[in-house]
Amino acid sequence: MKLFLDTANVEQVAEVAGWGVLDGVTTNPSLVAKENKNFKEVVLKMCEHVPCVSAQVTATDFSGMKKQGEEYASWHKHVVVKVPMTTEGLKTLRYCREKGIRTNTTLVFSVSQAILAAKAGANIISPFIGRLDDISEDGMGLIAEIMEVWKHYQFDTEVLVASTRHPRHIVEAAKLGAHICTIPYDVFKKLPHHPLTDSGLKKFLDDWNTLQK
Ligand code: E4P
Repeated sequence: MKLFLDTANVEQVAEVAGWGVLDGVTTNPSLVAKENKNFKEVVLKMCEHVPCVSAQVTATDFSGMKKQGEEYASWHKHVVVKVPMTTEGLKTLRYCREKGIRTNTTLVFSVSQAILAAKAGANIISPFIGRLDDISEDGMGLIAEIMEVWKHYQFDTEVLVASTRHPRHIVEAAKLGAHICTIPYDVFKKLPHHPLTDSGLKKFLDDWNTLQK
């Protein structure tokens, strides 16, 4: 399973990439606006750390998305163009697939949307599980359904579990065989920790120091 960081903060990417476990980054316009930095510079810096950086188009029509997508893809070979799940987005996914531009379909909330995006040639689809949970729907249930459908076909589209909210989401996504999970920084920081690791290490070191005396 690939692990991505869901952020537009370059320092966070550098830190987690330094652990040797980071496969990519997803950004979105809200995350970028929070950092208030030059978008291209941020994306290029992230591309130095990971081989897959999703940069989202902000146009909503095919012609505008196509233009932005081509521009973003020209910045660096690690850029993946993030396209919203709309009919104009589907046209853009097909166009990009034919041009060899990698894409990630964002704002996927149903199995039918997932199938359409895969058929249009998306390299990645991003179902948002946390936002479904927020409205009392079953986010992880959507991932289970998509993974079940994927077993019957030869889609080369990777399923990226997005809008994760806590470590258990990552475990459940892995159990379902999802290809990628994108994780907010505060959740990613929780993943390496376990209280028994901390107390166990303290005990080992306390015992060792006793021996040295
Ligand atoms: C994914 O690519 C999105 O950036 C992200 O996971 C959205 O998460 P949110 O629902 O916490 O905003």
